[in-house]
Amino acid sequence: MGPIIQFIKNNHNLYVEELQSLLRIPSISTLQENNEDMKHCATFVADKLKQAGMNRVEIFPTEGHPLVYGEWLGAPGKPTVLIYGHYDVQPIDPIELWDSPPFEPTIKGDNIFARGATDDKGQMYIHIKSVEAFFKVKGSLPLNVKFLIEGEEEIGSEHLGGFIEQHKDLLKCDAVLISDTSLYEAGIPTITYGLRGLAYMEIEVTGPNKDLHSGSFGGAVANPINVLAEIIAKLHDKNGRITIPNFYDDVLPLTKEEKKNFELLNFSDKNLAKELGVKELTGEAKFSTLERLWVRPTLDCNGIIGGFTGKGAKTVIASQASAKISMRLVPHQDPKKIAKIFTKYIKSIAPKSVKVKISDLHGAYPSISPLTGKALKAAAVAMEKAFDKKIVFMREGGSIPVVATFQRMLKTPTVLMGFGLNSENLHSPNEHFSLTHFQLGIQSSAYFFEEFSK
Ligand code: BES
Ligand code: MN
Ligand code: MN
Repeated sequence: MGPIIQFIKNNHNLYVEELQSLLRIPSISTLQENNEDMKHCATFVADKLKQAGMNRVEIFPTEGHPLVYGEWLGAPGKPTVLIYGHYDVQPIDPIELWDSPPFEPTIKGDNIFARGATDDKGQMYIHIKSVEAFFKVKGSLPLNVKFLIEGEEEIGSEHLGGFIEQHKDLLKCDAVLISDTSLYEAGIPTITYGLRGLAYMEIEVTGPNKDLHSGSFGGAVANPINVLAEIIAKLHDKNGRITIPNFYDDVLPLTKEEKKNFELLNFSDKNLAKELGVKELTGEAKFSTLERLWVRPTLDCNGIIGGFTGKGAKTVIASQASAKISMRLVPHQDPKKIAKIFTKYIKSIAPKSVKVKISDLHGAYPSISPLTGKALKAAAVAMEKAFDKKIVFMREGGSIPVVATFQRMLKTPTVLMGFGLNSENLHSPNEHFSLTHFQLGIQSSAYFFEEFSK
């Protein structure tokens, strides 16, 4: 492996330049106005796969954004790994809080700043470069490789499930490898073995048939904003437990062994509180912070609108108010079932004085993988070699919808070998990615191919 690792080290600057070109494309999946950029980005990724040595590359259109597929199957008798990643990114607002423009990648110290730097363009690109290094140095790969890079992860991977269902043979593999998660800490090789799922809902409360003078009518009708606030407040009890009946029915309890492993991670509440600028952390009573983040479901209001929000004062009772509510789910909760009991409960607590409409915007299944298997071991050894430290296993509070889909439809183990950091501002202003982790990621990926081919 010496010459390949050396080659990867020697080409670091070139890799960073290429990543900058990828980061310049504003591939925001949720905004219609960026649809052309999405196509452009898919083409860019496809071209890079071809240049890296994949001998079949195809862009598959979907009802939404295109999927990029690539394969090299020149190692008969050897295992096949499917690498998944996403080229879409989150919106950039609030733009005024960025120190450099989100689509003009800027290097400061060890970090590259741009929307998508760590989530997921920088991490996804790692594998394209490690494949290329093998072809340039050895002329071939030690195993078969497939790529599936999608453009709808940040909006719930709506069309990916159908594609996987219809292309089971094309995607057939011995393991799925994903780099779209974080290291436990900078410089610590980490494998994530559990992800939370998601049920994302919207509540719309309608009161009077028009906005009203709050003096002439205040006291006579229900105020939709007041009612909505009351509903939201009722969703937790004083211990931070979610009050929806049957909500916790399917929650997989933490094993004693996992609990011990979490304790060994020596997580510091104090440091996180400091990093986030809060006096103390809080959440469901009787659970540690890591438990609350990784193995307990949560319910959060993500946004709320209604009434007069402009400058100054206007006396008004609004006709409507609405809120976006997300529930992070854990194994073995089912987002469809959760959406149903959420809807039923909200309807049951809403007063007759208003109309309530509830919509299920999207969902994702949670996932958990056993800490066994060839692919997981190969990934652990690979990361340990690149980082020269002992591997750490963790779970994650965020979601990657396709992981459960892969496990259900392809029945293959999925390994989450991520290189980001949760402090790299994913989804928020000044997103960045450590160039050290980018380099160690490419090395880890190369070591993985070698280890998994054995
Ligand atoms: N890469 C993230 C998931 C993630 C977040 C991993 C934090 C590790 C740490 C992914 O792109 C993401 O943001 N997923 C969405 C999924 C949703 C839109 C269905 C999420 O978790 O909100
Ligand atoms: Mn991601
Ligand atoms: Mn994301």
